[in-house]
Amino acid sequence: MNRRSFLGNAGKGAIAMAAMPSMRALGANDRIRIGLIGAGDRGMQDLNDALRQPNIECVAVADTYSRRRDLAKSRVPGIDTYDDPMRLLERKDIDAVINATPMHLHAKYFIAALHAGKDLYSEKTMTWNIPQAVACLKAAKASKQVVQIGVQHQSSGGLVDAKEWITKGYLGKVTMVESWISRNTPRGHGQWVRPVPEDCNLQHVNWDLFLDGRPEPKFDGYKYINWRLFWEFSGGNITENMVHQNAWITSALGLELPSAAVMTGGIFSEKDGRQVPDTFNVTLEYPEMIVVWQSTFSNSHYRLGQHILGSSGTIENVNFGASTFYPERANDPGVGEMQGESKGVNHMANWFECIRSRNRATNAPVETGYRTAIAGHMANLAYRRQNRVTLEEAMAAPGSAWM
Ligand SMILES: NC(=O)c1ccc[n+]([C@@H]2O[C@H](COP(=O)([O-])OP(=O)(O)OC[C@H]3O[C@@H](n4cnc5c(N)ncnc54)[C@H](O)[C@@H]3O)[C@@H](O)[C@H]2O)c1
Repeated sequence: MNRRSFLGNAGKGAIAMAAMPSMRALGANDRIRIGLIGAGDRGMQDLNDALRQPNIECVAVADTYSRRRDLAKSRVPGIDTYDDPMRLLERKDIDAVINATPMHLHAKYFIAALHAGKDLYSEKTMTWNIPQAVACLKAAKASKQVVQIGVQHQSSGGLVDAKEWITKGYLGKVTMVESWISRNTPRGHGQWVRPVPEDCNLQHVNWDLFLDGRPEPKFDGYKYINWRLFWEFSGGNITENMVHQNAWITSALGLELPSAAVMTGGIFSEKDGRQVPDTFNVTLEYPEMIVVWQSTFSNSHYRLGQHILGSSGTIENVNFGASTFYPERANDPGVGEMQGESKGVNHMANWFECIRSRNRATNAPVETGYRTAIAGHMANLAYRRQNRVTLEEAMAAPGSAWM
């Protein structure tokens, strides 16, 4: 594989699928037939969430590990299973797919699903690097499909209230957002580390499909299960959690791409062989505003949150719950302290509603995936280069810079 271009194999399936006819037209009450690609932890949560919505039927699941296919079959008896997602995507009786594969594979199945005429729910982070984000944006814009990115807090009530208060001008001039996530684990057990099941071996896993061309000499069950810890497959906690918070903050404030990123930190909590840092601080520069995000895996007291700091008031949001507004004494906007009461909607339900109405403006469309993927990849690039990275530099970086 050409490591320099490193779009991964994102385009390949798409080419094979280019001639596929588009999906059937769905009426408001028609049953939507879905397929799941990647039936791991999150994929099964997404599937359960989907099956709780009215008139949804899962007909097929694709996963490279037989254990996960068996698990999906026990949840939904009668479904067809495949190891290769391309076989699922070839089926004309599937309207929509959920893509919950490890992050390095998102772009490949994203583009292939759109070319196959499937509506798509794609887990975050939308892509593993910037060139893939550009390719996915282009593919989604050129298609007629309904795309929802799995940043589910875009459907939360706390975001509705924050947007409204900001639009009404209650915050005044916002120059800074501070945000954080803090988690903890028993000492000696690093965050995210999962045990490797006994049957995780070449008899039960299609390792080549998982690697998707990455040059790994031999099967490594630890990497297969714990892909999050390695740059080849993951962007660490930037692409696991910052992406959710960046989506929320940029949506609330109407921000586009950062003009530059800085990231410092290291592997301080547990030296367990992981490559991605466990402790860090990111600063993203936006016009006349910085968005700071910090993360630790050795303390969970303050959990997760964001403070939008304005000259007239502050929005506090903790754990993506209800938002609260606190007025400043200087520049008091005269609205008093407020607790947001807007109700959110189910993110999966929002996708299905948009599929039925053919409304492509889901709560987290491809543009949200693009914007948040770029911000995250800029931060990781800054960390790897030990340098402030501008948007222009990041956009010009080769795909292999993320290996
Ligand atoms: N939105 C959220 O809140 C949220 C939460 C957790 C995880 N996620 C995201 O969901 C994705 C999956 O995370 P996870 O924790 O479920 O990982 P996981 O390892 O548990 O699941 C991934 C699954 O994909 C399968 N797989 C690997 N290569 C494949 C291929 N080529 N084709 C088909 N299947 C393949 C694996 O066998 C596994 O079952 C990640 O991108 C993660 O960031 C999102």
